[in-house]
Amino acid sequence: MKLEIKNLHVFIEDKEVIKGLDLAMNEGEFHVLMGPNGSGKTSLSKAIMGHPAYLIKEGDILVDGKSIKDLSTDKIAKLGLFLGFQNPIEVDGLGVINFLNTARGAVSKDNAPFKDFLNEVKSNAESLKIKEDLVNRSLNFGFSGGEKKKVEVLQMAMLKPKIAILDEPDSGLDVDAIKLVAAKINEIRKNTKAGILLITHYSRILKYMEPEYVHIMHDGKITREGGKDLIEEIESKGYKA
Ligand SMILES: Nc1ncnc2c1ncn2[C@@H]1O[C@H](COP(=O)(O)OP(=O)(O)OP(=O)(O)O)[C@@H](O)[C@H]1O
Ligand SMILES: [Mg+2]
Repeated sequence: MKLEIKNLHVFIEDKEVIKGLDLAMNEGEFHVLMGPNGSGKTSLSKAIMGHPAYLIKEGDILVDGKSIKDLSTDKIAKLGLFLGFQNPIEVDGLGVINFLNTARGAVSKDNAPFKDFLNEVKSNAESLKIKEDLVNRSLNFGFSGGEKKKVEVLQMAMLKPKIAILDEPDSGLDVDAIKLVAAKINEIRKNTKAGILLITHYSRILKYMEPEYVHIMHDGKITREGGKDLIEEIESKGYKA
């Protein structure tokens, strides 16, 4: 699967937040997106996933050459795109297991028996050190910041997307949890050949991973691109260099 973003202009109401952005990536590739607060990283992720508040006024988003900009989020997810949120929302009354089970049916055509599905959830949760009672609770409801982040990665593990956008999966995680989450994303990537677009502010999580392409975003546009070296340069010199 190939994801292409071409001359994308996105508005929230009257405010332009993405201002002519180009980016292309393939399944199997590992891309990192960095950039100052408010540069539009989260807006880009939400626009890709078809969030109705993010209006595409110019340009296009293509999956394997076909425009997805007018598709609803469920159809975009069915194509194999996944977004792990920067700020996952709490949904009281929707159990984690129930949510994952419904989502896997809708998105991944996974119709393994419920018992096998449950075992897979448990083993993924265990490797992320997600407490067992958490998966029996309402989605994100009262979860700690770190617990929410781990459950986003659990969703990715269960839904097996072709391309996953992970919006700051490391924010709010303690040092041990960062290692666990990095290892889990590496494992999912190895098993499923998923492409990853990882958004982060810090090089720490990337010490445990092997990103191939780095994109820097400023004010709604990609302003620099390079390899892993760029991460260290930004970490030591900041974005202004
Ligand atoms: N619902 C909204 N209404 C108005 N402005 C918004 C809305 N959502 C985002 N913005 C604005 O769009 C710009 C880009 O925000 P965005 O969240 O995409 O940045 P970001 O690069 O993800 O930042 P961070 O690194 O802090 O997560 C910001 O100026 C933000 O205030
Ligand atoms: Mg953001």
